[in-house]
This record gives sequence, structure tokens and C-alpha cells, in this order.
Amino acid sequence: MSQIQAPRGTADVLPEDGRRRLDLLTSAADVLSRAGYGPVETPIFETTELFARGVGETTDIVEKEMFTFEDQGGRSVTLRPEGTAGVCRAYVEHGMHKLPQPVKLWYWGPFFRYEAPQAGRFRQFTQVGIEAIGSDDPTLDAESILLLAELLDRTGARGVRLRISSLGTPETRRAYSDELGTFLREREDKLSDDVRARLDRNPLRAFDSDHPGTRAALEDAPRLLDRLDPADAEHFEQVRALLDAAGQPYEVDGTLVRGLDYYTRTVFEFESTELGAQSALGGGGRYDGLVEQLGGPPTPGVGWAAGVERILLASGTDEPRPAPRSVYVATTGEADAAQAFGIARELRIRGLRAELEQAGRSLKGQLKHADRLGADYVVIVGDAEVQVKDMSTGEQRAAGSPGEAIELIAGAGP
Ligand code: HAM
Repeated sequence: MSQIQAPRGTADVLPEDGRRRLDLLTSAADVLSRAGYGPVETPIFETTELFARGVGETTDIVEKEMFTFEDQGGRSVTLRPEGTAGVCRAYVEHGMHKLPQPVKLWYWGPFFRYEAPQAGRFRQFTQVGIEAIGSDDPTLDAESILLLAELLDRTGARGVRLRISSLGTPETRRAYSDELGTFLREREDKLSDDVRARLDRNPLRAFDSDHPGTRAALEDAPRLLDRLDPADAEHFEQVRALLDAAGQPYEVDGTLVRGLDYYTRTVFEFESTELGAQSALGGGGRYDGLVEQLGGPPTPGVGWAAGVERILLASGTDEPRPAPRSVYVATTGEADAAQAFGIARELRIRGLRAELEQAGRSLKGQLKHADRLGADYVVIVGDAEVQVKDMSTGEQRAAGSPGEAIELIAGAGP
């Protein structure tokens, strides 16, 4: 029969990779909880309208990248392409505006975008992210940026660069968008078909384009950063001052547009020079209108999400972390299987890592396997006695009983 393969753009996580992901998850939980972020989980599928309203009708994500289907009850649902809309929906649905503000949340899980798969770009990928909802204080913008920087640093991501900008308020952005639209329409013949088709609806998207003509046309285009109103300019100044004081390097990039429509004021993106075309490790920004747009009270918010697979790609494979002492329990005859089983279980309870023979190998084969696993000790359970072999010295000692063997190993220093 023909073989069935994983769907295009998805990947199985095998143990080696799984261990690195778990390390990253542990680091994230540590870094984020120390800053007051609590874990949150929202559904993997949501009502399609949530993303249409939250992410924006004219974004690439909503226009062409969503896994949308009708359920058996005829409702249109979508596999979540991003996490902010769902978290803000949950904030409104659970009346979290009544809690002390800001509400700080972090998440980790699978997300889905129907994109052309390539290195670092998948149809199912994993994001780790945070949202701080209920305050427009610039310290939250700076804090969230610094938290992602810390996480990337702890993971050992290489070639990391940070770009930041401010998009101002929706009104400023609208006025600027009209101005940019007029500017680009005067140079329409130079633009790509894609950009031209979106000129009326979303001219800002032009900054996302790689098309040489479009890029040339944009060179002298007006910049949003020069159009910010005084309060937004001041907010951005404060965010920058906090990053400066923290010694966080960054580049102000007025052409930074993110692929989602909910952003206001601060936006940022971390990228890695190690990653090729899909260089964005993570990004985010402020979304002061989103909660209201989803039916909640006017509520500011700021956050980011980072691609787990990309962080690990940019981090290379590091030294494995120090493991607990490990033991291999070998047996010389079938009658000892239950004893070996009990010894391994007890060693695990005592905090050691223990494996036992479970594939019918000869004693010689078992010792070879123990070596391959990097065991520090081998317990050899024989018919009459139990031996303990220290693999670093090669020294082998008889232990009177299984209990004595466990004491010999568990009682030894680290
Ligand atoms: P985003 O920039 O669309 O932002 O995605 C965040 C990160 O997810 C990207 O920088 C990238 O590392 C990873 N990512 C996105 N698409 C893919 C893909 N197809 N394959 C692999 N990795 C991918 C958001 O999703 C916003 N919700 C971030 C945010 C939170 N803004 C405010 N709060």
C-alpha cells in the first residue's frame, strides 16, 4: 500500500528537537512569569469573524492564508493564524477589564497559515507570545520588547537585530495612508500589480513589497514617523528612552509595517541574520483599538509573538544541558526482569534517570547499549547477586541486594 505522509508544511517533532522545544518552553515560562505574565490557553479554532474583524479584511493573512471551513453545524470556523485576537476575545468574554490592570498573559501553541512552505515557513508552526492588556504605559512597550530580547538571549539565538517604529493613532494612519496613496498613484506605472491592486484599500502594504520598482518609488515617499501627533511622538520617545537606558540596541525603521491591521503606536520586529528569507524571529506592538473592535470597552494593549521553530533554527544546536546521573539496569537472565524493573523505578523516584533492558539483548549487547546512552552507572542484576559498575572508572562492585545497589548509586554525590 502507498505510504501516507504528513501534510505539506507540517513537521513531526522527534525527541531531539522535542527536548530543545521543551527547554525553550521552560525558559519562556521562567522569563515571562518573573515579569508577572500568567499562562493562558485559547481554542485552536475560532469563529472566522474574529480574525476578519481583529486581524483585518485586507491583510494577507485574512485574504489568502486562513484554514477556514464549515463545521457540521454550518458555522464558519478558522484555525487560528495568530493569537492576539483570541486572547483579546477571551479578555472581553471573561470580563477581565474588571481585574486590576494591566492583565498580563503569555501563551505557547500551534498556529496555522496557508503559506508556501520554505525554510523557516510552515503551515503549522508554534508561537510563544505575550499580551499586556489594559494600560498604555510606555514601560509596557519597553518591557515586552526587553522580555523577548531576554528570551532570545537565553536561547542563544544568533545574529539578532531589533527594528522599532511607531504607527501613531488610526486617525494619523488614515490621513497618512491617503497621503501615501496619492503619492503612489502619481507613480502607478512603477508599482507591482499586487501593490497597485491594493492602492485604494491599503497603500501602506507597499512597504512590504520586494518588487524593485515599488521599492524605488517608495524611496522619496512621505514617512509616517514624521506625521505622528505630539502625544504619540512623546510616547515613542519614552519607549526609546527606556530601551536606551536598558542598553538594548535597536534601529528605528520608519518603513516597518507589520502584516496585521490592529497595530497602533509602537511596532517592533526581531530578526536574525542566520535565517535567510524568513528572517523574522518575532514581532509585535501596541493595539489600542483591538479590544473595542471585538466588542469590549476601549482598552489599550501591547504584546508580541515569536516563532518557536525559527528561534531554534537561529540558535543552532548547543551543548545539551547537564542531565541527572543516569543508570542502565542490565539483566543476565529472564528470572530477574521484575527485579530490574523495580530497581529502575526506584532510581527514577529518587530523581535519577534510569533505563532498563527491554529488547532482549545479550549482556554484552546491553553494556554496549548502556555506553551508547551515556549511562554513568550500570546495575547488573544476576541470578544470585547484583553488581554496580561505575562507567567513568570501570570499577565494578558487588552489592548485597537491590536496595544496597540503589543506595550505592543514589547516595553517591552528583
Ligand atoms: P506575526 O509577525 O504575524 O505576529 O508572527 C509572529 C512570528 O511568528 C513571526 O515573527 C514568525 O517568527 C512566526 N511565524 C509567522 N508565520 C509563520 C510561518 N508560516 N511559519 C513559521 N513561523 C511563522 C503575530 O502573530 C502577532 N499576533 C504578534 C503580536 C502579539 N502582536 C501583538 N501581540
